[in-house]
Amino acid sequence: MSIQFSQEKLDKVKEIIARYPEGKQKSALIPLLHLAQEEFGGWLDVPVMDYVASLLHILPIEVYEVATFYTMFNMKPVGKYVLEVCRTGPCMLRGSDQIIDHIKTKLSIKEGETSADGLFTLKPAECLGACGYAPMMQLGKHFRENLTVEKVDTLLEELKANAKN
Ligand code: FES
Repeated sequence: MSIQFSQEKLDKVKEIIARYPEGKQKSALIPLLHLAQEEFGGWLDVPVMDYVASLLHILPIEVYEVATFYTMFNMKPVGKYVLEVCRTGPCMLRGSDQIIDHIKTKLSIKEGETSADGLFTLKPAECLGACGYAPMMQLGKHFRENLTVEKVDTLLEELKANAKN
């Protein structure tokens, strides 16, 4: 498979790298990994990480180290929607276990798995900094807060409907 950013993304890559001083291009790694994940199917396959390394003139291992450390980067294929449900203390005290169990039952998946229709991946997360709105989840670039089982049901239905459009 030939890995290559679109021209639009390549322009963005140049713009991001130019934010950093000469010789410090590695600082652009995290934003470039976000771009790559967005462009290449929602996850970072090894050839994709190698491509990012080549753009930054760094070793592939330097990319793997970062990509595997941060949970926001997916190391295997994921569904169209990744449900990152926080399960740290405050969210747990306010029912995140029930939310996670409900999603598992409703979608017939375990943590880290993707539903059979390819739409949803359940990915428990650690504190996402919205403890005052617990329990919560991250969905793409947005937070869904003060979750209840009913709100999760409504959300899943909305997302299923959106996926058809
Ligand atoms: Fe869930 Fe902080 S504990 S957002």
